[in-house]
Amino acid sequence: SAPADPAPGRTAVQVVAHRGSSAALPEHTLEAYRLAIDEGADALECDVRLTADGRLVCVHDRTVRRTSDGRGAVSAMTLAELSALDFGSWKSPEAPRPSGILTLAGLLELVADAGRPVGLAIETKHPTRYAGRTEAELLRMLDHYGLLPRTPEESSVRVMSFSELSLHRIRRAAPALPTVYLLERRLPVLGRTRSLPGGAGIAGPGIELVRRDPGLVTALRRAGHRVHVWTVDEPADVELCLGLGVEALITNRPREVLAQLGR
Ligand code: G3P
Ligand code: CA
Repeated sequence: SAPADPAPGRTAVQVVAHRGSSAALPEHTLEAYRLAIDEGADALECDVRLTADGRLVCVHDRTVRRTSDGRGAVSAMTLAELSALDFGSWKSPEAPRPSGILTLAGLLELVADAGRPVGLAIETKHPTRYAGRTEAELLRMLDHYGLLPRTPEESSVRVMSFSELSLHRIRRAAPALPTVYLLERRLPVLGRTRSLPGGAGIAGPGIELVRRDPGLVTALRRAGHRVHVWTVDEPADVELCLGLGVEALITNRPREVLAQLGR
């Protein structure tokens, strides 16, 4: 098989803030993303879900119960209903102001105003339920913000999913947009073929999988794939990933990881 690309050096590894600087501040809030930008993160990770009225919001879980003062499924609520909730006090009871729901538009505005290049790693959550509406709305928003690339190399955005179908939809509609196939378990097909499920160009294994099976990363890289690992919060895991030639570290603790990398 072809030799793997040279491993990115310590300073070339991308540090991606998972749900913002989410160890420090409530995940998926504007405050957590602003902090990640201030801390020097190269890119921001966020999960997107469709509301009942067809807007994309940044929420991880199916419901708002864990991360807000409300209840109910995101998909059953309108943006106006979600806007009445506080997404901050579950984590920071002493927070001076409530944190509103963050829309994808709000996140794209923040990145546009960051004053430096900041990448985005956007994950589609449970996209199979909506017959392509999640992907269509995501692409519409990226187009609106001038973020649809002509070539993968020029893209500051990538779309990630555990769903092969979702990645296929993205690739069909926007072939130049880089896609990341997320995986928690080893698939027999990986490493033996050059193509990843969903036609993705990048593999996104979880850190538990990488710890259990570091050879998977080596095999993926030998097959010509780039590898982005989540969620890398422990110093030993950062070193493990660096040794394996991982290209991006997705972490809840961007400040600490950047410090470990000497940045
Ligand atoms: O970056 C990928 C990772 O976020 C996938 O898992 O559950 O945190 O969305 P989850
Ligand atoms: Ca995610």
